Amino acid sequence: MLARIWSASIVGINAVKVGVEVDVSGGLPKIVVVGLPDTAIQESRERVKAALKNSGFTFPVRKIIINLTPADLRKEGPSFDLSIAIGILAASEQIDPELLGDYLFLGELSLDGSLRPISGVLPIAAAAANLGISGLVVPADNANEAAVVKEISVYGFRHLEEVAKFLNQPEKYQPVELSESLTNVEESNFYIPDLKDVKGQAHPRRALEIAAAGGHNLIFVGPPGSGKTMLARRLPGILPPLTFEEALEVSQIHSVAGLLKYQGSLVKTRPFRSPHHSASGPSLVGGGSYPQPGEISLAHRGVLFLDELTEFKRNVLEHLRQPLEDGYVSITRTRQSVVFPSQFTLVASTNPCPCGYFGDPIQNCSCSTRQREQYWAKLSGPLMDRIDLHVVVSRLKPEEMTRQQTGEESAKIRDRVKEARAKASFRFGNESGISCNAQMQSHHLRRFCQLDDSNRNFLENAIRKLGLSARAMDRILKVSLTIADLAGEEGIKINHLAEAIQYRSIDRLN
Ligand SMILES: Nc1ncnc2c1ncn2[C@@H]1O[C@H](COP(=O)(O)OP(=O)(O)O)[C@@H](O)[C@H]1O
Ligand SMILES: [Mg+2]
Repeated sequence: MLARIWSASIVGINAVKVGVEVDVSGGLPKIVVVGLPDTAIQESRERVKAALKNSGFTFPVRKIIINLTPADLRKEGPSFDLSIAIGILAASEQIDPELLGDYLFLGELSLDGSLRPISGVLPIAAAAANLGISGLVVPADNANEAAVVKEISVYGFRHLEEVAKFLNQPEKYQPVELSESLTNVEESNFYIPDLKDVKGQAHPRRALEIAAAGGHNLIFVGPPGSGKTMLARRLPGILPPLTFEEALEVSQIHSVAGLLKYQGSLVKTRPFRSPHHSASGPSLVGGGSYPQPGEISLAHRGVLFLDELTEFKRNVLEHLRQPLEDGYVSITRTRQSVVFPSQFTLVASTNPCPCGYFGDPIQNCSCSTRQREQYWAKLSGPLMDRIDLHVVVSRLKPEEMTRQQTGEESAKIRDRVKEARAKASFRFGNESGISCNAQMQSHHLRRFCQLDDSNRNFLENAIRKLGLSARAMDRILKVSLTIADLAGEEGIKINHLAEAIQYRSIDRLN
């Protein structure tokens, strides 16, 4: 007898409906899986066999053919176990095939029949309404994640036996309902480190505020222990909170990477990702034979922090160029090409020289001029071209260190950032396709960053004196506009330019 049930697969972060056809017929006992399955699905035969037997069902001693459709889509992972098991039960008439309805089944089986959580449930739930199904049957540990999508009924179970019971009497079961607190993204910034913990450091704090308001990439340069990491971690907290739609988008990427398994529901705060400098290219930008999102996509709509930038391998950093420019990364494989979003703010940090103490008032720098030059040469290059704000972080003075007084709290700064961002998005309107100052192209600069004669002279002098490049000038204009937005002023004034020029310190050192 033939049974057909629904499951789904993930391509990139998109869900594709997969039909699981199971035919149980006479012939030598054998189980065959066709339709481009990977090894995990081939192994699923053994898991399903054991799970059925250990859950009190009969495993048919006949010829079983399992066909996964569409045939040209590569299918991966253990998430088809549940659908295959239910298909075998239906095809061998241990469950009435009529009862399968239009449910979509997802889940990995243990040998004892219990259901284990899988990756990528949220994008499938989000697409489920369009896939034409009536409900989603998932492992209990994935239920919260799927139930974020209110338009679809989600049922979570711990054991194969429970799924069979549910199919026999669905009216006895209620779909999962999430409490309001799990989906409310408004108050979630509470858990992010706060800038009020940072003593002193007025200049780096101001730079963070500008970075948040204009979406500018930033680099902190300073000796060890000066607070670079501490400052960087506090950037997500002064960005506007995620909207529900953004949270859903971010969560789908995290779901595909398997980070929401086990009771996770929604990523509610802006991501902060801090990959180690030994990270490989694929772990940073995504990859694998079944492409998985990398750190830059996990940082989507949040912050990617590259601590000790000079320690990263140059060829690995090269991979970041295209995504930084485009806001997405595309990964091509023989049978498929996938796109992962990657709109993040880059924050980098570095010591000013190999020993770390160049320019430090207390500890002497032990590096030779040549060592320092080589170090800076390593820093300049493709990535530095995309960093708008160069920020020198100095060690706290003893009297600042011991001061009791706390800094301004993130919530207040966030309010100013929100206002500045609102001003920018009003200026750009809908047609320009950009939402913050950092995204401006040269034609936007001509339109939105006009200078009067005296301001132009001022900038010209600065460029001549500091030997700045054309690219550096564009960055100065963008940052000036953000400073004007924060000040609530229309158009760039001389004091905005003067402040923005300060953030080109690395150009000046080179
Ligand atoms: N401005 C500051 N206010 C309060 N504590 C600070 C400050 N700067 C540094 N610290 C303390 O010093 C520690 C080390 O700072 P860290 O951010 O790791 O420095 P870096 O990354 O520059 O090496 C922090 O965890 C924090 O406890
Ligand atoms: Mg650090």
